[in-house]
Order: sequence, then C-alpha cells, then structure tokens
Amino acid sequence: MTNILFAAGPDRWAVYEAPLRAALDGFGLDYVLSCEAAPKTVDYIVYAPDSEVRDFTPYTRLKAVLNLWAGVERITGNETLTVPLARMVDEEGLTQGMVEYVTGHVLRHHLGMDRYILNPDHRWDPVVPPLASERPVTVLGLGTLGTACAGALAGLGFPVSGWSRTPRELEGITCHHGPDGLKKALAGAEILVLLLPDTPATRDLMNRETLALLPRGACIVNPGRGPLIDDAALVEALDAGQVGHATLDVFRKEPLPQDHPFWSHPGVTITPHVAADTRVPSASRVIAENIRRGEAGEPLLHLVDRAAGY
Ligand code: NDP
Ligand code: OXD
Repeated sequence: MTNILFAAGPDRWAVYEAPLRAALDGFGLDYVLSCEAAPKTVDYIVYAPDSEVRDFTPYTRLKAVLNLWAGVERITGNETLTVPLARMVDEEGLTQGMVEYVTGHVLRHHLGMDRYILNPDHRWDPVVPPLASERPVTVLGLGTLGTACAGALAGLGFPVSGWSRTPRELEGITCHHGPDGLKKALAGAEILVLLLPDTPATRDLMNRETLALLPRGACIVNPGRGPLIDDAALVEALDAGQVGHATLDVFRKEPLPQDHPFWSHPGVTITPHVAADTRVPSASRVIAENIRRGEAGEPLLHLVDRAAGY
C-alpha cells in the first residue's frame, strides 16, 4: 500500500482530491491518499511552497516530494529534505498557459496596442508597427517554459534568441549560454522575456549594468521570478527611457506591497502571479505518473538538481 500525503494546503486539497484519486486509480495503484498522516507512514508528499511541512526529518520512509509548482526556490535549500524532489512540468496546462501569457504580452508591446486601447483624447494617430520579423525578441531561460515560448514566438515570425546556463541547440532559435553569452543575448533584444528560476546565480541578473545592454526603449516581460530584476535599477531605467515598459507577474514580495513604486509607475504593468497556474486535472496526472514510476522502480520525471537550485 502506497501512502500519499497531500501537504499543499486545505484549499488545494478541496480541488485536487478527486482528480488525484482519478489519476491514481487510472494507474491501478493501491494507495491511501489523505491530507493528514503520521509522518513515519508516508511514502510520497504532494507539496507546494506554502506547505506547512518544513521539517522532513520525521518522514522516515519518504521516497520523494512532488511539488505542484515549477519553481522550487523555497524548497531546494531545505537541508532536512534528503529524498528526490520533483517539480511540476505539465505541457498541457502550465506550459500552455505560459505560452499564451508570453505571446499575448509580447504581441501587446510589439503592436503598441496601448496607444489605441488607452486613447482618452480620441487621437487619430496611425503608427504602423514593424512586422514581427523586424522585432528581435530574447528569452532568458531555455528550459521547459522558455523553450516553448521561444518556439511559439519564432512561429509568429519574431527573430528569437535565447540564453541558458549550459549550451542548447534549438531549431529556429539563436542560442547563447553562460556568462559570456548574456551580452550577446541582450544586445538588440527589443523585447526581453525572463523565464529563469530564482537561484543565487540568477538573482539581480537584470541590474543597472545589464539593463544598459538592451537597446533603448526595450520592453521586458517577467513571468520568471521577482529577484531576477533589481527593482530600483528597473525604475531608474524606466524613468530614463532605457526600458520602455515592463510587464511583471512576479515580485520579491507577493502580494506586491501597496507602497511599492511599481504600482504607480506608468511604465509598469502588474499581473498578480497569474502567468501560468498549475492546472488541476493535468497536474494530477503528472503527480500520479511519478508515483507510478516510483512504485515501479522507474526513474522519476522532472527531478530538481538541488546543487544548481532548479
Ligand atoms: P527549467 O528548469 O525547465 O528551465 C530553467 C532555464 O533557466 C534553463 O534553460 C536553465 O539553463 C536556465 N538557467 C538556470 N540558471 C541559469 C543561469 N545561471 N544562467 C543562465 N541560464 C540559467 O524551468 P521552467 O522553464 O519550467 O520554469 C522557469 C521558471 O519559470 C520557474 O523556475 C519559475 O520561477 C517560473 N514560473 C513562473 C510561473 C508564473 O506563473 N509566473 C509559472 C511557472 C514557472 P539550462 O538549460 O542550461 O539548465
Ligand atoms: C510556479 C509558479 O512556479 O506558479 O509554478 O510560479
């Protein structure tokens, strides 16, 4: 009998219980699924960053922790966690949601949609945007989400560059990597999309110096993580016209404090961490598949490299 603890909070339990059971039943697993269990009986924990479980020491027979989120920055450093940690990778739900968010916001900036949507003086002021083929876009982060977004943008005709830690080869994308590749990735990026994880190596990546490497007036779309950008440097770059607009979905502190300068800055669009939510039915299938694999002695999918931090 496999004992599964759902430790991602009571609100999520209410929506996940039935789909998770359906997915586990689909694999014919013999299991107990609950939101409360004696720690020493638990085989798998379904987890979320705001979970009450912080100390994994009492979970003596734990086989793996399965995170419902893609980002793992709040758990990778937990030294009491000594078993494999898997993150959420869900092409049908999370990835599709991110592709829609990123293409939507890139197209908004590319087409200059605000000029006509916000036109209180009823000005007849035709400004024809360039074609996508004339608008270079760069995606920082070429993992699951960055690759999907870069591919969708390239499919719309944008010349797309990307940047990762290790070398990548992606058809139709100009790939750069490592510290030396960053300059090349930023040069010419009229729209910059951030899809990096929050790790010690990516924190404050976009700072005064790197923002200055972008072409003047570049737009930034950040659905990655707040700490990727130095907030004060971004406000400075917006005020100076170096950055034309920033669409931000994620922040150092969430909810974004009411007195944060981003709220009142005309060059900032704030979305409240909604870029790509985990979708319950497909995410439940991803979790159940990993439990099936664990029980069958097969390698788990989507394992986090704890040393790299993502
Ligand atoms: P992946 O782990 O699949 O990809 C991460 C990418 O970042 C990889 O290409 C990796 O390089 C690159 N990277 C990591 N560190 C560095 C570094 N130091 N220098 C250069 N590149 C680096 O993650 P996902 O694509 O699944 O998700 C990305 C992030 O998106 C998540 O960590 C999360 O923070 C955020 N997210 C936000 C959501 C939202 O709703 N706003 C929803 C879901 C995720 P390499 O390829 O070499 O490994
Ligand atoms: C995630 C997120 O990491 O929603 O999944 O940010």
